[in-house]
Amino acid sequence: MDKRAVAEVFGRAAEHYDGAAHLQRRVADQLLAQVSELPLRQAGHVVDLGTGTGYCLPTLNQRFQPTLLTALDLAEPMLALARERVERLNLVQADLENPPLADNSVDLAVSSLAVQWLDRPEAFIARLAKVLKPGGYLALSTLGPETLRELRQAWTQVDQEVHVNRFMPASDWQAALAASPLTLTLWQAEQLEVRYDAPLALVRELKALGAHHVERQRTPMVGHLRPMLRAYEEFVCADGRYPATWDVFYLIARKPL
Ligand SMILES: C[S@@+](CC[C@H](N)C(=O)[O-])C[C@H]1O[C@@H](n2cnc3c(N)ncnc32)[C@H](O)[C@@H]1O
Repeated sequence: MDKRAVAEVFGRAAEHYDGAAHLQRRVADQLLAQVSELPLRQAGHVVDLGTGTGYCLPTLNQRFQPTLLTALDLAEPMLALARERVERLNLVQADLENPPLADNSVDLAVSSLAVQWLDRPEAFIARLAKVLKPGGYLALSTLGPETLRELRQAWTQVDQEVHVNRFMPASDWQAALAASPLTLTLWQAEQLEVRYDAPLALVRELKALGAHHVERQRTPMVGHLRPMLRAYEEFVCADGRYPATWDVFYLIARKPL
């Protein structure tokens, strides 16, 4: 995945992100509830990888009262908004695949819905395993392959291009963890359905979120949108609304003492 493109798309989306991020809030809340149960009373260094507008930061700050709270993101406009959430924040504009964090320096690394664009989950997990202190935790939420299946299917009726990101299966994450020194302490998968008054409302929301970015889109979709929206209408629910599936994985792993 082209990191500059990810940074640009999310940078442009920053202003509208919080108004559109309903599903993202729900997923972050679930991850934060799981993280809050961890047997860590306080933490020295807590990191939020792909912090976006910093939604997770106040909860992490309150729950763990860290001496250092780091918010890391590729997109500077996102970090500018995150800065407003918590006082005394360490802001880092960087790639979470190669975070400028010292080995054995982090008690807790959290990342909600930011690792689904990674090319090599095993390299990311291996790097985080180094960065964590012995006994430290990594907690992630990410998207699975069934995410936006209705949208993907509607596009196949229009052309053969890739219009919806492909998301890694659970087995890729589990293999990456198994190849690392980390021990999986929690794995949860859930499918959430969000309903929209019209398929166009979903397309607009994805754009507002910056989540419409795709790896390989060879033809512009101008002129193709209308037939896709018509194809999407076949998914209409009994209440006259249109569903979008989000396939979400949550995982927590620990570095052995
Ligand atoms: C969907 S938002 C989620 C933001 C936040 N974690 C939340 O739950 O609201 C994804 C964020 O990850 C960031 N991101 C994506 N890939 C990244 C990477 N390789 N390194 C750092 N940040 C990344 C984007 O810029 C964006 O701010």
